[in-house]
Amino acid sequence: MGNSLAYSSITKKIIMSLAGLFLISFLLVHLGINLLILFDKTYESFNMAAHFMATNPLIQVFQWVLFIGFIIHIIYGIIVQIQNWSARPVKYMKKGYSELSYFSKFMIHTGVVVFIFLIIHFANFFIVAKFGHVEEITYKSGTYENMGAVVFETFKIGWYVVFYVLALLLLGFHLEHGIQSAFQSLGFNHWRYTPVIKIIGTLFSILITLGFLAIPLVIYFT
Ligand code: HEM
Repeated sequence: MGNSLAYSSITKKIIMSLAGLFLISFLLVHLGINLLILFDKTYESFNMAAHFMATNPLIQVFQWVLFIGFIIHIIYGIIVQIQNWSARPVKYMKKGYSELSYFSKFMIHTGVVVFIFLIIHFANFFIVAKFGHVEEITYKSGTYENMGAVVFETFKIGWYVVFYVLALLLLGFHLEHGIQSAFQSLGFNHWRYTPVIKIIGTLFSILITLGFLAIPLVIYFT
């Protein structure tokens, strides 16, 4: 039983890792577009980008892929966690790379917070953009929904900012462990490269987290 369980658990981890790395590529694009809000007080570039994301047919297909990526990552994450709880009452004899990070023990917890964050985030922006009424604004380049103004209004509300900051910090911890763990699950395990991957993953997580944090904080305090 041990072997087959371990094997299936590793297969699930591989699928979960691929989905996770894919979600990170979304985060990069999302962050890049979001940061436009801070650099253009008229929100023109951000509104144009948001409009493009909301209307481009290829992106519409990609949104479904993204949604499925989230679902796979979440469902497999829960299954792997349950298997770990039930199948390993005794700790590993030898400490592996997965034990390197303190946050490895809290993936399910930080994951649940990110999930709750996503639901609230959807209510804030996605549902409003898709189904709500957003005022339009006209520039030389055209007329767009003023999503930039919606983001600004949201982050002028203190408790939203507090919630976003906390959730984004936990997302950072989730990424910090997730990235190195994903590479390990995919078989990159090397005495020389694994520490390098870990450092790059940590720097990457810090940069992504700081980038996202900047948006609510700059809007609230300026
Ligand atoms: C403070 C930082 C963030 C801001 C200002 C922000 C802003 C937005 C906005 C305005 C939308 C609606 C886009 C539209 O349809 O017009 C959106 C959608 C979305 N956001 Fe964020 N977001 C932030 C952080 C995050 C984080 C950290 C995640 C993931 C963990 C995330 C995941 C999503 C997803 C999955 C969607 C829906 C898919 C899409 O519309 O492309 N966001 N966000």
